[in-house]
Amino acid sequence: MSKETQFIRSVKGTRDLLPSETHLWQGVEAEARAVLGAYNFREIRTPILEQTALFARSVGEETDIVTKEMYTFADRDNESLTLRPEATASVVRAYIEHSLYNEGGIQKLYYIGPMFRRERPQKGRYRQFYQIGAEVLGSDHPTIDAEVIEMLMLFLSRLELQNTALLLNSVGCPICRPEYLRVLRHALEGVKGNLCADCQRRTETNPLRVLDCKVEADQPIIEKLPSILDHLGPECRQHFDRVTAELSERGIEYTITPRLVRGLDYYTKTTFEITSGALGAQNALLGGGRYDGLAEMIGGPPTPGIGFSIGEDRLVLAVADAAQGKAGWSASPVAAYIVWMGDRTLAPARQLARELRRQGLSVEIGYEPTKLKKSMGIASRIGARFAVIIGEGELQSGRYQVKDMTSGEQQEVEPAGLTDYLRSRLASARHVPMPLK
Ligand code: HAM
Repeated sequence: MSKETQFIRSVKGTRDLLPSETHLWQGVEAEARAVLGAYNFREIRTPILEQTALFARSVGEETDIVTKEMYTFADRDNESLTLRPEATASVVRAYIEHSLYNEGGIQKLYYIGPMFRRERPQKGRYRQFYQIGAEVLGSDHPTIDAEVIEMLMLFLSRLELQNTALLLNSVGCPICRPEYLRVLRHALEGVKGNLCADCQRRTETNPLRVLDCKVEADQPIIEKLPSILDHLGPECRQHFDRVTAELSERGIEYTITPRLVRGLDYYTKTTFEITSGALGAQNALLGGGRYDGLAEMIGGPPTPGIGFSIGEDRLVLAVADAAQGKAGWSASPVAAYIVWMGDRTLAPARQLARELRRQGLSVEIGYEPTKLKKSMGIASRIGARFAVIIGEGELQSGRYQVKDMTSGEQQEVEPAGLTDYLRSRLASARHVPMPLK
């Protein structure tokens, strides 16, 4: 085959989400919007392209994301642009750029959209992936940390997700962290030679990142390094104690994980992750934390903040099983397939399709003359709940045949009553939102 005619495939690490799965994505997003709305979060949509410096400064020059994973390119005027690897920096940038702090109070913002990281693709890890994220800007109160986590737990429970674990840590702040870093550097001196090449470099450039290392052979060494929780300053300690106390009061279980420093540099105080047993190696369903210094890192006024991002690809993988059985998660069914037989029936059949569609029912109709048996085959293949049959006889009697495709039962219904008839029979299959508990 010549090069010109070779089929052009999608880019490695990117995926087409086909209709057989997009209904799950829509279901997950609808639940997310419902829960976020209940906690008074409002949607923000920021550009996918940002100046490279935004991520370099906030996510951190020494992080894997910035050193290895960003899709960065020089624009035609040589400006360095990057496809966003995450959206927290963008949300904080937008908050500053539009002076949202002038609206008074705290801002609770959420976003849903694609992110880009050039990682090695595998199940649950893609180069274009999707996040559902939320950020609370303008307060450093520990109650907000607990409330954000409470909201996440509610969301996951509404998705009937089981086998999840909440990991919690504090990474201190610019006041207490230097002392911990000194202790950590000192401890690393002794073991440095046994760590991977990346960690040997990190020991000098950003020792906290060593705790984040995923290399198997490094793990026993890292486990023995000093814990940041033993070096928190009084303010960070108090904050962390308040967060854990509030989580316990809310009946939320957590595991304190001193190594949880997360892969981004902007974090201060609380950090957390939720892992899912339903996922394989890529088991981090979501991650988040507080970033009280981020706004200043990108040249804005001091603005405390906390947030999280859920990996939507992973979330969909995890809920896929549980979702199959839930009425609300099934692909929205075609309500009716309209079968017409004979030229004279085409006009009333089209009229009926139009009317039912106006009423919001999903309807399909054949575009060319087709035998009854074949039409019924089509109705069944497209998953129509009902077939409405209009032949010469039906035109004369003024009553259409309605066949229930699941039970096989057939009934005559007058055109005027058809919408109500279909609606009442379909009611059980439609998505009824669960109450917020
Ligand atoms: P992150 O931990 O880098 O945090 O990403 C959050 C989640 O995105 C991960 O837990 C994972 O589920 C998903 N994720 C990350 N990379 C990939 C990938 N290559 N393929 C599939 N899923 C992926 C952040 O992005 C921060 N902005 C979270 C945050 C918000 N912190 C404060 N506010």
